[in-house]
Amino acid sequence: MGESSPEPYDDDAELHAEWARQAQEFRLEQWRKRIPPSMRTPGELDPRIVSWVNDLVRRSPNNLLMVGPVGVGKTWSCWHAADAAIAAGWDGDPTVVGAYEWKLLITPPVNEMDVRDIARSSLLVLDDPGAMRLGAWELEHMYGVIDYRWNHRLPTIITSNVPDLRAMLGERIASRLAANVTVVVLDGPDRRREGK
Ligand SMILES: Nc1ncnc2c1ncn2[C@@H]1O[C@H](COP(=O)(O)OP(=O)(O)O)[C@@H](O)[C@H]1O
Ligand SMILES: [Mg+2]
Repeated sequence: MGESSPEPYDDDAELHAEWARQAQEFRLEQWRKRIPPSMRTPGELDPRIVSWVNDLVRRSPNNLLMVGPVGVGKTWSCWHAADAAIAAGWDGDPTVVGAYEWKLLITPPVNEMDVRDIARSSLLVLDDPGAMRLGAWELEHMYGVIDYRWNHRLPTIITSNVPDLRAMLGERIASRLAANVTVVVLDGPDRRREGK
């Protein structure tokens, strides 16, 4: 039986590393296809968001609340934070849900499977949920999702024009998001108007 290579474990380790590298490259490629064209502009992530990404990659994730006026780069930062995490080897699969998508998702008849997928996502981005009127029905479903994520320590990014999550989402949702949250207040000009 002398045919096996002298260092089978080394070969295995190298093969595995190569396989992991290719899998990560593939994930990044797939992810980048999902970034909407308007959000593909290159740019720098805020250093506070970079440090949030590092915690996510190191598997000690926080929630992230980004607050700031229209056009300051909140949505862009969501996509690029997830991008940076995947590029750094994080193997999650983010789900980005805007206010209108949220509304569609929970308009009766509610597709329970979709809501469950969102609750279980390894990173959920709720982009500007306050942009739509959130009635009792919307908040009830959002509570289900956020409660699941809180129980399972799954990170959520939420963006908002106003810093007051309680006023926007109510006490039960806000207190679950606020446990373990990094708040980043973004400031600056409306980038959509800049130089256009
Ligand atoms: N850090 C950045 N670097 C380059 N472009 C950016 C950056 N942040 C935002 N943008 C661009 O500016 C525009 C407005 O940003 P957006 O994220 O939609 O703002 P908000 O969600 O805060 O209203 C978008 O077209 C986006 O691509
Ligand atoms: Mg936005």
